[in-house]
Amino acid sequence: MLEDYLDVWERIDTGQFTSTVGRVPRVRIAQGLETALWVCDTNTVTLLPSAVDASDCVVIPAGESSKAWTQVEMVLTEAVRRGLDRNSTIVAFGGGVVCDLAAFAASVYLRGLRVVLIPTSLLAMVDAAVGGKTGINFLGYKNMVGTFHTAAEVRICEDYLLSLSDPEYYSGLAEAIKAAVLGDEDLMISFEKEVPRIRDRDLEILTDICRRSVRVKADVVRDDYREHGTRAFLNFGHTFAHALETVAGLGSWTHGAAVAWGMARAVGLGERIGLTPPEHANRMRAILDAYSYRTGDAGVDVDALIRAMSQDKKRLEGTVRFVLSRGVGDTVVVPVETAQLRDELLYAGTK
Ligand SMILES: NC(=O)c1ccc[n+]([C@@H]2O[C@H](COP(=O)([O-])OP(=O)(O)OC[C@H]3O[C@@H](n4cnc5c(N)ncnc54)[C@H](O)[C@@H]3O)[C@@H](O)[C@H]2O)c1
Repeated sequence: MLEDYLDVWERIDTGQFTSTVGRVPRVRIAQGLETALWVCDTNTVTLLPSAVDASDCVVIPAGESSKAWTQVEMVLTEAVRRGLDRNSTIVAFGGGVVCDLAAFAASVYLRGLRVVLIPTSLLAMVDAAVGGKTGINFLGYKNMVGTFHTAAEVRICEDYLLSLSDPEYYSGLAEAIKAAVLGDEDLMISFEKEVPRIRDRDLEILTDICRRSVRVKADVVRDDYREHGTRAFLNFGHTFAHALETVAGLGSWTHGAAVAWGMARAVGLGERIGLTPPEHANRMRAILDAYSYRTGDAGVDVDALIRAMSQDKKRLEGTVRFVLSRGVGDTVVVPVETAQLRDELLYAGTK
């Protein structure tokens, strides 16, 4: 029984599917999955459990450029070669790239195969592995092709975080800070009070951070699986982040570092339009500073950022909708005048 070794944190019931998310000790991580088709990347292949033979896995090149058709074909080709049937399982063992790609391949093979996600990056543990979105990038557009396909299980083992590089660790941590502001006051307090332990990757506190972040995301996803409304709250900081990533050039900022910058802009913008109380904005900025995120001048052109945020040029002089925060657990989506957006970006640039 899965429950015998899985410390269940959440069951996300989306009506069609139920996803069980929990912690599994590293020695049990492959339990019952030894004969499944495993997908990993050129970094996580070195971390595979001993019960799994690396030569039997689909190993994709590490990095965002692997979220592409070529790698989907690699997985599907291996699935056909092995004769996977409707009772088979595909296992993703890696960061968000491996999870998104393997889950996408699983969702289209035989119209949908069981997928188990074993996230190994912090970003995947707290965000990408939870919530059923799969996808690949297409024609230069991020996540342009994808499906909703909920993992049967998400097995989280924080031990894997010890081999993660610092930029990738802090990238994931920014999404956990986002989870805190979206709905967990105790997690906000942890980020304020436990700075040294969190920076030192104390595994006990990381377990708590992952569990709480998963709960926040699960609550949002359960309410709005297909993103007709409140799931957009998960994009707090992301409108700014995506624009920054586009303008600065993909890869020059980690996604989480861009999200941290975006959250600083979002609370600044919220303050500017009288929506975010200054104490809340200052609290957010203090947390971001405590983890050394870059929150001021991003070194990019303000007009280019505004263009990237406006979906078409006609809206450049109009409004853009932003996810803003009035407090912990109090998130709203509001249209903002471009002039106010420009003021916030200019202000950030002059800091
Ligand atoms: N489906 C969703 O809801 C969702 C949500 C958020 C993000 N995402 C997607 O997730 C992706 C980003 O995920 P990511 O940041 O994990 O990127 P990633 O998968 O590229 O992993 C980052 C790097 O860390 C390496 N790595 C992973 N685990 C490691 C470990 N334990 N030790 C050493 N190295 C390790 C990887 O090989 C890679 O080089 C993006 O494509 C994004 O679109 C999806």
